[in-house]
Amino acid sequence: MYVCLCEGVTDTQIRDAVYEGCCSYREVRSTLGIASQCGKCACLAKQVVRETIGEVQSSQAALAYPAGFVAA
Ligand code: FES
Repeated sequence: MYVCLCEGVTDTQIRDAVYEGCCSYREVRSTLGIASQCGKCACLAKQVVRETIGEVQSSQAALAYPAGFVAA
């Protein structure tokens, strides 16, 4: 789905940017150019970034404790 029509940026591109190392809305914005023209996409773009950062953090937390891990 297109999030930023002015720059032609999709939610998938925003998610990819977060998975590739962007760790804030500001970084995603400077990488992809979202919200740099009319700005109408800013709220949705922030929401996608926030959700994706949450997914990355929870997947990293899951890696810290693999399925077979048993606390002593
Ligand atoms: S829709 Fe993103 S800047 Fe216009």
